[in-house]
Amino acid sequence: MRNRMIAGNWKMNKTYTEGVELASGLADELKDGTGSVDVVVCPPAVDLKGVAEVIDQKKAPFALGAQNVYWEEHGAFTGETAPDMLTNIGATYCIIGHSERRGYFHETDEEINKKAKALMAHGIVPISCCGEPLEVREAGKHVEFVVDQIKKDTEGLEIADPSKYVIAYEPIWAIGTGKTATADDAQEVCGAIRKTLAEIFGQKTADGIRILYGGSAKPNNVAGFLEKDDVDGALVGGASLKADSFAAMVKAAM
Ligand code: PGA
Repeated sequence: MRNRMIAGNWKMNKTYTEGVELASGLADELKDGTGSVDVVVCPPAVDLKGVAEVIDQKKAPFALGAQNVYWEEHGAFTGETAPDMLTNIGATYCIIGHSERRGYFHETDEEINKKAKALMAHGIVPISCCGEPLEVREAGKHVEFVVDQIKKDTEGLEIADPSKYVIAYEPIWAIGTGKTATADDAQEVCGAIRKTLAEIFGQKTADGIRILYGGSAKPNNVAGFLEKDDVDGALVGGASLKADSFAAMVKAAM
C-alpha cells in the first residue's frame, strides 16, 4: 500500500563537480531500476541543477530533493530559496525541519509548518523531520516529544494525497554518531506518529503517509528497520555519500 522510500541527505557535502559525479555513479548502480522503491537524492542547493541534468540525461530512477526552502514566493530574503525556484529546476521533494536546521539555525515548528504549506502549494513533497535529543530519550519522554512536534508541524495542512507528504523520524542522538536506534525503538515512535496522524487526518490518510527512519542507517542495518510495520524507508546521511553504499540500501529495500 505504501511504496518504500530511500532518501539521501548529502547535507553540506559535495561540490558541484563531485555532486554530478556521485549522481552519475548512482545512476549507473541503479540502472536496472528500483522496483517499487521511491528513491530521492537531496544535494546541496548549488548542486541541484547539475544533479537534475544527470537524472535527465541518464534517465536515472531517482527523484531530486532540496534540503531547505523558504516559505515566501520571492523578494528581499537574502540567501533563501523559494519553492518555485525548486520546481523550476526539477526538484520534487524537499527536506524540512532537519534537526541540524532546528539546532544550528534555530528553526521552529511554526516555521517548519509554513515551509510544508509553501512546498505543498507548489506540488513539492515535504520530507518533514522530527526526533528527540538524548536527554529527552533518557527521561523516557521521547514519544510525547515527537508527537508534539508532529502536531505542530502538520497544523492546518491539507493532505489530499498521502503519498505526497513524508515524515522522517530521526532521533538526534543517532544522527552521524554511529549509534543507531534499535528497530524496536524506531517502531515505537513511528507507530505513535502514525496514530497521531490518524487522529488528525483520519486512518486512511495516515495509512498512506510514508514514515522514514533516519540516524546512522547503513547497508547492514536498514533491512531490520524496514521489517517494522510503521517504518517505510530511510533518510540516509553519511551512507548516501557513496554510490555503492546508497545503492545497496535501495536494493535492500526492494
Ligand atoms: P546519518 O544522517 O545517516 O549520517 O546519521 C541522517 C540524517 O541526518 O538525515
